[in-house]
Amino acid sequence: MLKISASLLACDEAYLGETVMELERAGVDFIHLDVMDGHYVENFAFSPKTVRDLRKITALPLEVHLEIDNPERYIAIFAEAGADIIIVQLDTVRHPIRVLKEIRSFGKKAGIAINPSDELGRVKYLAAYIDYLLLMSVEPGFGGQEFEESVVDKVNLAQSEFAKWGYSIPIGVDGGINFENVTLITQAGAEIVVVGTALFSQPNFCEAVTLFRQLGGFR
Ligand code: DX5
Ligand code: ZN
Repeated sequence: MLKISASLLACDEAYLGETVMELERAGVDFIHLDVMDGHYVENFAFSPKTVRDLRKITALPLEVHLEIDNPERYIAIFAEAGADIIIVQLDTVRHPIRVLKEIRSFGKKAGIAINPSDELGRVKYLAAYIDYLLLMSVEPGFGGQEFEESVVDKVNLAQSEFAKWGYSIPIGVDGGINFENVTLITQAGAEIVVVGTALFSQPNFCEAVTLFRQLGGFR
């Protein structure tokens, strides 16, 4: 079944805790927290404290997506705050294998994210160190952007390359996902969709989650 990771960037932060509990009741699979530093991206979002506070109120896995410069400085902090999955942007790390190993050393799942115009190339050499590949379908920094269609082919390619290299690594897609494009994305082989705007624009999370699963349902 398609896994849904709810991206909190789009939610009303005045109701963060209630929203997470509601998402849990609606059956989402992960909570996706974008951490933004106003430097790597021109936006600010969640901190270790957000992770620590939400950890207390939900059993859902917390997926921390570091859209920051020098993420290697903050791995221990987010691991200790209670993240279950830590994803770094490949273009922000000079020594990715070291960073990915560090994430795993805390018993956390390690993910790498690549941007829409990045080739898969280096992922081959990182595959042994990752538990999750996140393909960005927008430039990082903001919710509500338009989906980059070219990522669909990249999902396909990643899927077949992983099989060729002998890895079975879940592929997620992040950015601009909605009811119109989710089928294409899952057909291409994505197992997880990160959804913000399209989910938070719906009055009923439960119905929205069901519809997303139906549309991506053959997985
Ligand atoms: C973008 C973030 C995404 C974002 C997706 O930098 O990584 O997680 O929240 O949001 P939507 O679904 O609004 O495109
Ligand atoms: Zn994200």
